[in-house]
Amino acid sequence: MAEKLATQIKSQYLYDKVKDVYSLDDWEYMEPLIARINQLKKEKNAVILAHNYMTPDIYHCVSDIVGDSLALAIEAKKVESDIIVMAGVHFMAETSKILSPEKKVLIPDDKAGCSLASSITGADVRKLKQLYPGRPVITYVNTTADVKAETDICCTSGNVEKIVRSLGVDEVILIPDKYLAGNVEKATGIRCITWDDGSCEVHELFTVDEMKTLRKSDPDLKIIAHPECPKEVVAEADFAGSTAGMINYVVDNQPEKVALITECSMSHNIAKQAPNTKFMGMCRMCPHMKKITLENIVKCLEQETIEVYLDDEIIQKAYGSVQRMLERS
Ligand code: 13P
Ligand code: SF4
Repeated sequence: MAEKLATQIKSQYLYDKVKDVYSLDDWEYMEPLIARINQLKKEKNAVILAHNYMTPDIYHCVSDIVGDSLALAIEAKKVESDIIVMAGVHFMAETSKILSPEKKVLIPDDKAGCSLASSITGADVRKLKQLYPGRPVITYVNTTADVKAETDICCTSGNVEKIVRSLGVDEVILIPDKYLAGNVEKATGIRCITWDDGSCEVHELFTVDEMKTLRKSDPDLKIIAHPECPKEVVAEADFAGSTAGMINYVVDNQPEKVALITECSMSHNIAKQAPNTKFMGMCRMCPHMKKITLENIVKCLEQETIEVYLDDEIIQKAYGSVQRMLERS
């Protein structure tokens, strides 16, 4: 009993970060897993990079760096630890490997995929280049390494408009997210040839009717959408941006009420940074991101699995397209 109390006091500062989301009973189960992960990180000189869509236990209690795909890519290049654990989806782990090929990159569940990444292959990109010769190929980072290897320059939702504009042309190939491409075309006036099979299975579900209902329910509500949502949905929003852009908007503006039109963990993760903001429950869950759990992070660190391997030639080619993006970001 004395031992349990000591443990609780020791991790109180962590519980304080998530106590609005998890009960003490939940915490009793989670705390030993969190302690084990934090101990293993030290023993193995490992770092956990966590995407903004991770659940609050992972986001607040075990991650070393949190961010959107752009921030995680930037950090993956700078990491000094021997091991990178990607608390995110597979394409993010691949991007870390491309940027830090000498590191051991691990993902707790290699089935944590992405509907965008699985919609297109390197062979598809080669065909597109033949169909539209001379157009620069800009590829969203939500793609596999072999797609990045066929790409002139990558982008994320955080820098896509800047990258598209920076090329100084009036037509580009922007793949594979047809909705992101539509939103960028509207914002920049630059024609974006895209990939009709590419969409985010989470964000494409939001509808204009839902946005209109939200707006009608409270005219003071701020609606913030991710640009993977359909164009008509984004048109109804007060602001659209990457997950980091959405967080910055809320933190900087501290709106009284906000609806984050994106993955459900976002509101929980940032609530502490906007203590007076009321988050409206309009969100959808990404089944891929939710495959990452405290349990499989423990296993991942204990057994040093599942390691991400990529062909050296693919790494070299893909590195060029990611690095060109980082230089312009
Ligand atoms: P961000 O780069 O905005 O974090 O987006 C990644 C993602 O998968 C959103 O669905
Ligand atoms: Fe992919 Fe959409 Fe999930 Fe992001 S939210 S990882 S784009 S399926």
